[in-house]
Amino acid sequence: MNQGTFDRLWGELEPIGRDGASGGYRRFALTAEDAALREWFAAAAAARGLDLVLDRAGNQWAWWGDPDLQPGVAIGSHLDSVPDGGAFDGPLGVISAFAALDALRAKGFTPDRPIGVVNFGDEEGARFGVACAGSRVITGALSPERALGLADADGVTMDEALQRAGRVTEELGRDEDALRRVGAFVELHVEQGRGLVDLGRPVAVGSGIRPHGRWRIELPGRADHAGTTRLADRDDPMLALAAVIVQARHAAERHGAVATCGKVRVQPNGVNAIPSLVTAWLDARGSRRDAVAQVVAEVRAVVEAQGGSLSEESWTEATGFDVPLTHRLAALLDNAPVLDTGAGHDAGVLATAGVPTAMLFVRNPTGVSHSPAEFAERDDCLAGVAALTDVVAELAR
Ligand code: GLV
Ligand code: MN
Ligand code: MN
Repeated sequence: MNQGTFDRLWGELEPIGRDGASGGYRRFALTAEDAALREWFAAAAAARGLDLVLDRAGNQWAWWGDPDLQPGVAIGSHLDSVPDGGAFDGPLGVISAFAALDALRAKGFTPDRPIGVVNFGDEEGARFGVACAGSRVITGALSPERALGLADADGVTMDEALQRAGRVTEELGRDEDALRRVGAFVELHVEQGRGLVDLGRPVAVGSGIRPHGRWRIELPGRADHAGTTRLADRDDPMLALAAVIVQARHAAERHGAVATCGKVRVQPNGVNAIPSLVTAWLDARGSRRDAVAQVVAEVRAVVEAQGGSLSEESWTEATGFDVPLTHRLAALLDNAPVLDTGAGHDAGVLATAGVPTAMLFVRNPTGVSHSPAEFAERDDCLAGVAALTDVVAELAR
């Protein structure tokens, strides 16, 4: 494999959306950073003579061969990030896809089926709140009406953001043509856990995604002076939030699940003001849907006892990847370990929509992810590219 390809692509992408102070990435949907990432993708496609096709959510597909003549093998991931995200979650899959395609060509491989590289938009949902928005729209899991009405923290809707980004030409919605072109999808991703470290292997095949969801919690209070109001007279929603956060943790422990409140908005957010409203988001996941449901029910009980409300923003059932495909890839990759994950992926959305889908995970020495500390050794990244190259050679012949 030409290691220079990987290093060059990595170097091109590295500065886009990087925060100088934290070293983390801020690559949010329909921003200037997003536009720069999309330009990078289009240039990488053009440099390889690939046909760039946008689907009805604006996801970018770069095809080698014509997938309208016969369905192809798609590989890739996403380029957006969580706030202060790492360099690997998403971009590793897209860069590895281009590098695998280059490696196949360098070997003189002639595919019998088209090969496509994809960049899914807005996978993290960091700006508009719904994760995997790009893949959910084209599969019909997210309606265009709901997607267009989603608003960011400043109240800018996705509809307005699309117009500001000059993307008004897209007719958002389920895209039968885009889905028909994908005979199989393989997403390579940095592992977001320590499964591979513990097994001493660089690459795994994904078996599925645990059920997970996001809930919005509103806790109203009464605005007042932080210095003059007697404690007994206060209606302080920050206290309610503290009880909710502790309940989420304890309920997750009781039910063998995980839960966290990672995002909070406080109004009016003044150091000397008792808040009038606190909005918090709960992320809860687990191996079993009933365990997650129990956690949410117990958090809801505390929220409602505090006079607040809790509503679901998204829910994703347990997702299994294509079983024969998973076994075939594990065998092909020297009996690679097969691991599930608690992280959501576009691969999960496509699998639910009936596309034969698999995932490859690349070892992450600390397991840390959604953080500037997210990491994978270069040798492991190259092992991931080699694995993806073998997988595509197998599926596209
Ligand atoms: C996406 O990375 C998620 O699991 O939230
Ligand atoms: Mn992520
Ligand atoms: Mn990701």
